[in-house]
Amino acid sequence: MQRIKTIRDIDCEGKRVFVRVDFNVPLDERGMVSDDARITAALPTIEYLVQRGARVILASHLGRPKGEKVAKYSMRGVAQVLAKLLGQPVLFLQDCIGEEVEQAVDKLTNGNIILLENLRFYNGETDNDPKFAKQLAALADIYVNDAFGTAHRAHASTEGITKWVKTKVAGFLIERELEFLGSKVSDPERPFTVILGGSKVSDKIDIINHLLDKADNLLIGGAMAFTFMVAMKHKVGTSLVESDKVDLATKVLLRAKKLGVNFLTPIDYVITNSLDTENMVIGEVKTSDCDIPDGWCGVDIGPKTVKLYSDIIAKSRTVLWNGPVGIFEIKQASHGTFDLAHAVASSEATSIIGGGDLGKAVRRSGFEDGMTFISTGGGASLEFLEGKELPGIAALDKI
Ligand code: 3PG
Repeated sequence: MQRIKTIRDIDCEGKRVFVRVDFNVPLDERGMVSDDARITAALPTIEYLVQRGARVILASHLGRPKGEKVAKYSMRGVAQVLAKLLGQPVLFLQDCIGEEVEQAVDKLTNGNIILLENLRFYNGETDNDPKFAKQLAALADIYVNDAFGTAHRAHASTEGITKWVKTKVAGFLIERELEFLGSKVSDPERPFTVILGGSKVSDKIDIINHLLDKADNLLIGGAMAFTFMVAMKHKVGTSLVESDKVDLATKVLLRAKKLGVNFLTPIDYVITNSLDTENMVIGEVKTSDCDIPDGWCGVDIGPKTVKLYSDIIAKSRTVLWNGPVGIFEIKQASHGTFDLAHAVASSEATSIIGGGDLGKAVRRSGFEDGMTFISTGGGASLEFLEGKELPGIAALDKI
């Protein structure tokens, strides 16, 4: 496989380096950044460029403002958080294209940083409009993509711009994502265990198919387990089932058997007689074996399953985990996810955690530091693990 060029391969002193970052961070009710993980993850690239005397122009989207200048999605607050984390000023510009922006960029001195206003204040960004892409490219001698979380989008700042800038390379964040989600998964140290959770089989079927012939153990959790339980003729009560995917689940089970993969579904569950996912409120809670009584619904894997899966994790050399195994936002349904996080963190295995909801759950579990790698990508890590080519990465220079 060809290697993507990175910032290690370029000379950036005195150059205008346009860095596409993913600062699409969660905001609280007051509009303040409530989780700076994505900003922190971009620091190594920014610091490296600053130390080498680049003139750094950072650009990102925040939320989905759909081409409108929506005040709550301004990058201004992000600029303040970034400046604090870097310990150096970050000049915030109130636009991302145009004459004033070009003038400010021209005045930038070596080692200094600009953060542009939200790219999605223009529809040209999501439409991948060549005119908009060209306007962004006018700010750059070199293009760096370090926005792994957005690399599955062919937008003007992730794909279009690369047609107008000669040198386009990856930053350290993307380099690390490719190493852990790429090489460490395609050529894993064995035993290789994949844990898959989340609510729908349909969301994970492409990952299952892509990883089935690579994994030694595939451990299923989350609501998607119930579609497999139906395929195995178990009773699932009122648990979430994708009835139109039962045949698909049956095919997966047969293929796993043929390939000799240790494909496991839960042997017990935490169940409830009432569940309101909108308000995250739950009724009476108890454990059940894998035949769930009528009127009850599964919300988490049970303690026996935690033990079974934890023993397998402890013997693994590589663990890839995508998707929570229960409704971790509700305390009574969070133990499965948090206990598995403990098991993964205490194992000797290289542990690779898919981003999105699971990244949030692992941070909440308190076992974040025990993980080898937590992806910054939600949808992007999912598509990458499905074996798809991400447009934002395909567009970069190769060696
Ligand atoms: C994400 O948060 O997954 C990325 O920033 C992409 O955002 P989007 O789904 O709005 O394109």
